Amino acid sequence: MTSLESMARLRDELRRVGKRVGFVPTMGALHPGHQSLVERARAESDVVVSSIFVNPLQFGPSEDFERYPRDLDGDRAKLEAAGCDVLFTTSPSAMYPHGFQTYVVPEGSLAARFEAAVRPGHFRGVATIVLKLLNIVGPTRAYFGRKDAQQLAIVKRMVSDLNVPVQIVPCPTVREPDGLAMSSRNAYLSAEQRAAAPAIYRALRAARARICKGERSAAALRTELTSDLRSAFGVDPDYAELVDPASFEPLGEAIPEQRNVLAPILAIVAQRVGTTRLLDNARLDEDGL
Ligand code: PAJ
Repeated sequence: MTSLESMARLRDELRRVGKRVGFVPTMGALHPGHQSLVERARAESDVVVSSIFVNPLQFGPSEDFERYPRDLDGDRAKLEAAGCDVLFTTSPSAMYPHGFQTYVVPEGSLAARFEAAVRPGHFRGVATIVLKLLNIVGPTRAYFGRKDAQQLAIVKRMVSDLNVPVQIVPCPTVREPDGLAMSSRNAYLSAEQRAAAPAIYRALRAARARICKGERSAAALRTELTSDLRSAFGVDPDYAELVDPASFEPLGEAIPEQRNVLAPILAIVAQRVGTTRLLDNARLDEDGL
């Protein structure tokens, strides 16, 4: 589907016949992480719709909108292989026609720190396009990766705050065999940078191991996470923090624990490797890293 009108007609038709629609929004340059979302949607839906739209609104003026990788033919084959039925892709001028002036602006703790602070306007662009896509596609469920944890929390909050009739389904981060979280931006890394990149995963695992051994000081964990990253990359991370996964409020000094059950703890990292920013995160109170 290459026009908003044809996608909306299909949405109305699928709704009329009562189909469960699973939706996976993407910016393309697809990899097995994206495909895992499509496969999950396939398993839980009658019809799977995926979108590819490199959204200019979520890129800052000095960011990589122009050089963001694009490969529509390759992506189409990957979507088909993962079980996608419908690909929706359209142009920026169709999405944001002349006179466009209404935006979704997340405010509060979720949109104040971390990616929001480093990339002003980014989540305004994400929230606006995600709400538009949900309106155009009208899915029963929409699938988002935990890889972009702050985006996921903001989208969940928006859907709840604005009563959008869709269920948001969080999906696990898919990693390379050496632990690097898959990302379309990994293509920017030189061979040397690519070889160093899994240090982020190892630093997250080390933080989890420290918790398992009984470390309960958030400050100590943060310091060690930061120093592991600094020694691997030679520069400090943009941030390396322990937060509450729903609010993104940083944890206080001691990690809360009740009857040996830890409070939810999300470790979040953004690391510059040359000019590329790599994001990763992990729940430290759960297995599975
Ligand atoms: P994009 O970066 O293409 O990611 C599309 C979806 O794939 C997001 O939900 C993202 O979290 C998920 N994803 C990316 N890498 C993953 C991995 N290694 N494992 C699991 N899931 C992964 O995120 C966006 O596009 C855009 O901001 C978008 C939501 C489409 C709005 O423009």
